[in-house]
Amino acid sequence: MDPKALGAGFNPHIPNSARMYDYFLGGKNNLPVDRDAAEKVLKYVPEIPIGIRENREFLCRAVRFLAERGVRQFLDIGAGLPTQHNVHQVAAEVAPDSRTVYVDNDPQVLVHARALLQDSPNVIIAEGDLRYPGEILGDPGVRAHLDFERPVAVLMLAILHFIPDADEPLRIIGELRDALPPGSYLALSHVTVDERPEAAPAVERIYQNASTPFVGRMSSEVEPMFDGLDLVAPGVVNLHEWRSEAQVLDPLLEKAKPYFLCGIGEVV
Ligand SMILES: C[S@@+](CC[C@H](N)C(=O)[O-])C[C@H]1O[C@@H](n2cnc3c(N)ncnc32)[C@H](O)[C@@H]1O
Repeated sequence: MDPKALGAGFNPHIPNSARMYDYFLGGKNNLPVDRDAAEKVLKYVPEIPIGIRENREFLCRAVRFLAERGVRQFLDIGAGLPTQHNVHQVAAEVAPDSRTVYVDNDPQVLVHARALLQDSPNVIIAEGDLRYPGEILGDPGVRAHLDFERPVAVLMLAILHFIPDADEPLRIIGELRDALPPGSYLALSHVTVDERPEAAPAVERIYQNASTPFVGRMSSEVEPMFDGLDLVAPGVVNLHEWRSEAQVLDPLLEKAKPYFLCGIGEVV
């Protein structure tokens, strides 16, 4: 990875959660400091790369499902570094006229996303912070690209575990839900630590030195995130259980269940 290409906000000495995620996914957009922190996390939670791959597979199934339900507008908050099968590509397979806004608060992610996606039709990249949903919804670029009078699918995949309780994740989700017209959807996924209470503080400590803090939550804290929404079957489940054909669960994940919950709720 070329540090010069990254511009403002780049710090090669602080592990970056988006680049650590890229490392977990087997990507090349990461630095020694990221690999070092990621390897420390893997000592406590060796199943992370499998969970992350499953998260991307959930993203594909979720976007396809939403597009098949007629949604043509996607707001992906905490989009991360572009990888394979990004939201706009999956949506376009079902409906080429779909429009996508990618939002992230990491300057490096924004630089990469703009460089890689600048020629993609019907896609824009917006700087925004999930902690301030009103600012994302009020962003002139976002409002020019998406019509909030028509259904919008808001995706918050693998981001809410980077939002501390002090920033009130339930309030944030409620603000987004209340701003969307009926027929819209919220999709989210969240790491859960029910079976690994001892690993959570250790991983949280590693992320304290990184660009974003990590918050390990119990499934009982994730389920209320869908309150006020009409939950799509099969409900709030482990990633591989959400409308997946996959039958065999990796033994590492079987041991750690519930490890990464996900779900989709419809705004009614
Ligand atoms: C683990 S990646 C997830 C990427 C993608 N959503 C997925 O599920 O594959 C988390 C992303 O959320 C971004 N992020 C973390 N906190 C954020 C915040 N408060 N607002 C916006 N983006 C944030 C990070 O920069 C990173 O790109």
